[in-house]
Amino acid sequence: MRPVRIVTLALATTALALPLAAIPATADPGSDHQAAPHSNAKFDRLRHAAPEGFFVGTAVAGGGHHLEQDYPDPFTYDKEYRKILSRQFSSVSPENQMKWDFIHPERDRYRFDEADAIVDFAERHGQVVRGHTLLWHSQNPAWLEQGDFTDEELRAILREHIETVVGRYAGRIQQWDVANEIFDDAGNLRTEQNIWIRELGPGIVADAFRWAHEADPEAKLFFNDYNVEGRNAKSNAYYELVQDLLAEGVPVHGFSAQGHLSTRWGFPGDLEQNLRRFDALGLETAITELDVRMDLPESGVPTEAQLEQQADYYDQALSACLAVANCNSFTIWGFTDKYSWVPVFFQGQGSATVMTEDFVRKPAFFALQSTLKDARNG
Ligand code: XIL
Repeated sequence: MRPVRIVTLALATTALALPLAAIPATADPGSDHQAAPHSNAKFDRLRHAAPEGFFVGTAVAGGGHHLEQDYPDPFTYDKEYRKILSRQFSSVSPENQMKWDFIHPERDRYRFDEADAIVDFAERHGQVVRGHTLLWHSQNPAWLEQGDFTDEELRAILREHIETVVGRYAGRIQQWDVANEIFDDAGNLRTEQNIWIRELGPGIVADAFRWAHEADPEAKLFFNDYNVEGRNAKSNAYYELVQDLLAEGVPVHGFSAQGHLSTRWGFPGDLEQNLRRFDALGLETAITELDVRMDLPESGVPTEAQLEQQADYYDQALSACLAVANCNSFTIWGFTDKYSWVPVFFQGQGSATVMTEDFVRKPAFFALQSTLKDARNG
């Protein structure tokens, strides 16, 4: 998404306490200690509630907007955060730590420490990793965007980056968002905004997939975008492009909808149908960045009705993915409001994740848990 950054630090860090009535009696801040004695606490965790082979993921907070907040790097320093991250999720996506501006800050220097730490953490906890992202118009370093390169140099730069980053984690990344947000909402390629397409032409997209595949033949390679949940001009553009690429033998394996939703708008009811048409092309599908933001009342505290509507959106997105054969990866864009990007990017909106800033579970958490359990049992 490209909304303008508008909110001050003060607003971004305002605590958004929930009304007590909105929190189910069984809510507990991330530990299983309060579970009823007869319940099997393990299967209350999202990752274990899920059917075999279905991955429930979250973004791993760090980099990006976090760099301007008054807390230290969440993934590195927040113990409670890390505990929930390992217990609840079977897939992790570096929120910013594999983006160009973070991992390749100078032409001849890579910064791998943070990404390495996430991949190591994932392995220690039996989690898979979604790599994000290799070809995008946003969060590119100044040396790249403002550099004065010939076409040949630029091509070599992209190729070297993909070989280096994908190669470093080869065999350890389940899915890569190779190309992120290459179309605008009207379904036109971002020929001006995206440096690669602008300078090298649309053919560079296929090359990015080819180079990524050479560097890690096991990773599933995805197109990823927002506002492609339903059938619309943008998702149609992907549908056309993917067919052309597959016909040319380009190694494209997946199509994913980010899922940055808002209760301002209705739920995209044709999500399942849309995923199905990509599934029918032989692709994997995924939900990769789900969050459901809302306009906060003046108190900053969402109403019970808002939380119920949010839970319903989370649930519908999950159900759509569960209903499609090769939609096996469902990721939320952070699990706690404490670190959500939403208040920083969308003025007056927030409470977009499934846990409060204090890690208290919201109705959306329980909706996911219950729908995963149902899918596992039935
Ligand atoms: C967001 C991050 O959450 C922020 O920390 C960062 O400042 C900006 O980017 N689509 C994407 C994600 O593909 O990478 C974006 O993540 C959200 C929209």
